Amino acid sequence: MAQRWTPESWRSLPAQQLPTYADTAALGQVERTLKRFPPLVFAGESRSLKAHLARVANGEAFLLQGGDCAESFAEFHPDKIRDTFRVLLQMAVVLTFGGSLPVVKVGRMAGQFAKPRSADMETIDGVSLPSYRGDIVNGFEFEAEQRRPQPDRMVQAYNQAAATLNLLRAFAQGGYADLQKVHSWNLGFVARSPQGERYEDMANRIDEAVQFMAACGVTGKTVTAMRETEFFTAHEALLLPFEEALTRVDSTSGDWYDVSAHFLWIGDRTRQLDGAHVEFARGIKNPVGLKCGPSLDGDDLIRLIDRLNPENEAGRMTLIIRMGSDKVADLLPPLVRRVQAEGRTVAWACDPMHGNTVKSSSGFKTRPFERILAEVQGFFEVHRAEGTYPGGVHFELTGEDVTECTGGAQAISEHTLSQRYHTACDPRLNAAQALELAFLIAENLRAARVSRAAERRAAAE
Ligand code: PEP
Ligand code: CO
Repeated sequence: MAQRWTPESWRSLPAQQLPTYADTAALGQVERTLKRFPPLVFAGESRSLKAHLARVANGEAFLLQGGDCAESFAEFHPDKIRDTFRVLLQMAVVLTFGGSLPVVKVGRMAGQFAKPRSADMETIDGVSLPSYRGDIVNGFEFEAEQRRPQPDRMVQAYNQAAATLNLLRAFAQGGYADLQKVHSWNLGFVARSPQGERYEDMANRIDEAVQFMAACGVTGKTVTAMRETEFFTAHEALLLPFEEALTRVDSTSGDWYDVSAHFLWIGDRTRQLDGAHVEFARGIKNPVGLKCGPSLDGDDLIRLIDRLNPENEAGRMTLIIRMGSDKVADLLPPLVRRVQAEGRTVAWACDPMHGNTVKSSSGFKTRPFERILAEVQGFFEVHRAEGTYPGGVHFELTGEDVTECTGGAQAISEHTLSQRYHTACDPRLNAAQALELAFLIAENLRAARVSRAAERRAAAE
């Protein structure tokens, strides 16, 4: 069995995807600085998220997770935070209605800086430099000084995360999240969308529900839940020196929490059973995610679940499936069956982004909207066939009007990608594409709910 866990026990194990810092004294200094900084989140909030995710695992709530592939220092701006938060809220309203279930909202925000890369070095015109690993590690520009991993970037990332979280908390609790307002933005989207009539029916039904509640006296003025929302943060627990420095004992429970975010996930490239990232994650009490790509087999999955969640606690583990639209129908069922057969409790979420990245003819990394939608639908279909619950979705999206993924109602073509291609990393859904997906997923949720109700009625007769 594994040795005793400490926040630094990962250091004795093989670690993938960590930068090499030339100046170890500077690194130590930064780690000591970060250890004195206040927590970004409170452990009690992580416990509350875990309770919500337990409901997701039990089929009583739906998880919506989304945000940038990588946050950047240069793009740091209040409007960007607001717009991403806003589109997540808009999606959540639609999904809540479609599923008739509470939606657990988690941003890939306020700390999503570090990126795994396929190669350690990048070569352009015969010049080789370290790959860009996210602004928390080095700079994007292909230039020797920029690409050098610099420990003090961690302090800047912490500060940006703190300011971002502060604004998110203000929005979530200060009236910006009022249901009537969010719903009116959705009506605006439906009116503007080239395929708006497709979503009109659902928007009208939501409108009726909101008006009915208002007539009954349930408004943002009278009921807190109508004007406030709970919003959680998440990022990949990749840069372990940073995560370790923000791992603290919670005085309430005496347990260790990584207080850099409410939820941390392990990436598809760093999920080695005996690797540093799994070792780190096993000892923190936060809810954790595990990215599950095509190379993961059932035996490994069970071993990982047991390492990360030996007590089989509901809400602790979210499996984030990212197989690709062409593989999900073949590769997901064996995993679902295995987890079911072994009686492990997990929440199942679908990341339809990372298995569907292609190179466009114009040379841009992109993701076709149709493939993103197809993977989500394939994920739902597998769970319907297996009798398990499709618990949520995980998107790379932005509130801005970028042109990074092709397709959708705006019919972004390979040739228009260059117009507003702003991502420093993977291509994201823009606000219109993200909302369109939410409407399409809500239709699926609604159909699943109607057929479950029909089954229940038939069984009762
Ligand atoms: C990501 O979520 O940005 C990511 C790198 O995903 P994965 O680990 O699934 O490839
Ligand atoms: Co990504």
